[in-house]
Amino acid sequence: MRFLALHGPNLNLLGKREPEIYGTLTLDDINCSLEVLALELGCNIAFYQSNSEGKLIDAIQGAVGVYDGIIFNPAAYTHTSIAIRDALASVALPFVEVHLSNVYRREEFRHKSLTAALAIGQICGFGVESYLLGLRALWGSLQH
Ligand code: DQA
Repeated sequence: MRFLALHGPNLNLLGKREPEIYGTLTLDDINCSLEVLALELGCNIAFYQSNSEGKLIDAIQGAVGVYDGIIFNPAAYTHTSIAIRDALASVALPFVEVHLSNVYRREEFRHKSLTAALAIGQICGFGVESYLLGLRALWGSLQH
């Protein structure tokens, strides 16, 4: 099984960006932890980050036939992007939405996700563990 970990805008700054909210791990650290777990589960994982809405949409469209599912942190686009929501609906690839922070304990504009209703599920508030739980949940949901 092959998965894509897709990271949205500003997540390239993890480690330096608001560490009191997002922690001190870098995106490379998170990807390394995902890689270790993927090996343990016997699956493959690839990584992509972009600050650009269009590039994230291209990655979602390009995932069809290449990946079995996506672990997706759409970051701020979670709350704003109808275009990303429509891309996810168009490809109908299984995905789990993850967030490092608990968005429901934060500003009200973060309480709404345009993408979560299309996901198998949403995991938030556990830092890097959100991603690891997301991979486990996605992998588990595709076992028959
Ligand atoms: C985030 C939460 C979003 O509200 C925010 O815009 C981000 C990161 C998270 O992982 O906690 O950039 O997706």
